[in-house]
Amino acid sequence: MSSHTSDVLVVGGGIIGLVTAWRAAQRGFATAVVDPEPGGGAAQVAAGMLAAVTELHYGEQTLLGLNLESARRYPDFVAELTELTGHGLGYRRSGTLAVALDADDRAHMRELHALQRQSGLTSQWLSGRECRRLEPMLAPGVRGGLRVDGDHQIDPRRLAAALVAACERAGVTFHRDWAERLTVSAGRATGVLTRAGTTLAAEQVVLAAGSLSGRLAGVPAEVLPPVRPVKGQVLRLTVPRRYAPFLTRTVRAVVRGSHVYLVPRENGELVVGATSEELGWDTTVTAGGVYELLRDAHELVPGITELPLTETRAGLRPASPDNAPLLGPTGLDGLLLATGHYRNGVLLTPVTGDVLAHALATGQLPDEARPFTPRRFHTAALSEQPA
Ligand code: GLY
Repeated sequence: MSSHTSDVLVVGGGIIGLVTAWRAAQRGFATAVVDPEPGGGAAQVAAGMLAAVTELHYGEQTLLGLNLESARRYPDFVAELTELTGHGLGYRRSGTLAVALDADDRAHMRELHALQRQSGLTSQWLSGRECRRLEPMLAPGVRGGLRVDGDHQIDPRRLAAALVAACERAGVTFHRDWAERLTVSAGRATGVLTRAGTTLAAEQVVLAAGSLSGRLAGVPAEVLPPVRPVKGQVLRLTVPRRYAPFLTRTVRAVVRGSHVYLVPRENGELVVGATSEELGWDTTVTAGGVYELLRDAHELVPGITELPLTETRAGLRPASPDNAPLLGPTGLDGLLLATGHYRNGVLLTPVTGDVLAHALATGQLPDEARPFTPRRFHTAALSEQPA
């Protein structure tokens, strides 16, 4: 059995684990990541919408603050990562149009518009004709919509690849293996034991394993993150050159209660998502899921049926009980969390890296992240202990 030691060990090499490791290494911590396939995870499926405004929901105003803060950091984050690695990230600031297909959708959209305005956000109500003037491929039945120029997009696969490269340049060590168990000694997290039998010791451990974060053996029940997987099926199509530009911005809608979005990339890819299914660890792509996405997308943009369908895939969103992430120190010394990002993992990547680096260096959360302390879910056994 071999063993390795680092200052910071990040469990999980998805975009959240990678950004945490990169920022930790930049702060001078000797940092390691344990993951069988760094750069994999939900980012390989996600559409990459940076949709703080169009994905606003009632009851999520606190999360909105963090989402907006991360959106604000995105341009500098992309510039830094691109300059450092030479990787393009497919970052497009082309905006989003959220449209309504019938009277019920329009009423729902009006409510969303009011909530956006109450929250100080910028969005513009457009008639159906104005929507079609912006996006001529929209169906004649579109009744109106919200134009949100501040909701952008990035290509999450390119983001993941760039973060792997940034980590390598910053000297992060990759252990391509599964973390099997957290090791705890004298009331403190001390590292992990891997499936291959390697002991990885660390001063601080960050659990950033997406929807798997709640399953790591050895984590005391009181601090185990309450995350669950929520399946999303996503399609990728290709826009042949003769149809370009098919769409110039992200188009989304709620059709019969289901969210559908179409995200056009610069390289001609059109991403269509996503189902939302509480089915545990299932990542099967189903005929029903593909049918519903294509049916709803077709109602919005009938010409979609002409496009080649190039990929179908399902991923797992790491959902928490309040839909917001769990960031920073837990009730177990030496164990921090960066998980539970649910629908906003790509959007929250920049701020998560900064917040975790601050927490690793100081033991405290910065002000913008205080509401997202994992301690809000701690069970009585720990929260009743004297501070
Ligand atoms: N944020 C898009 C999704 O979760 O489907």
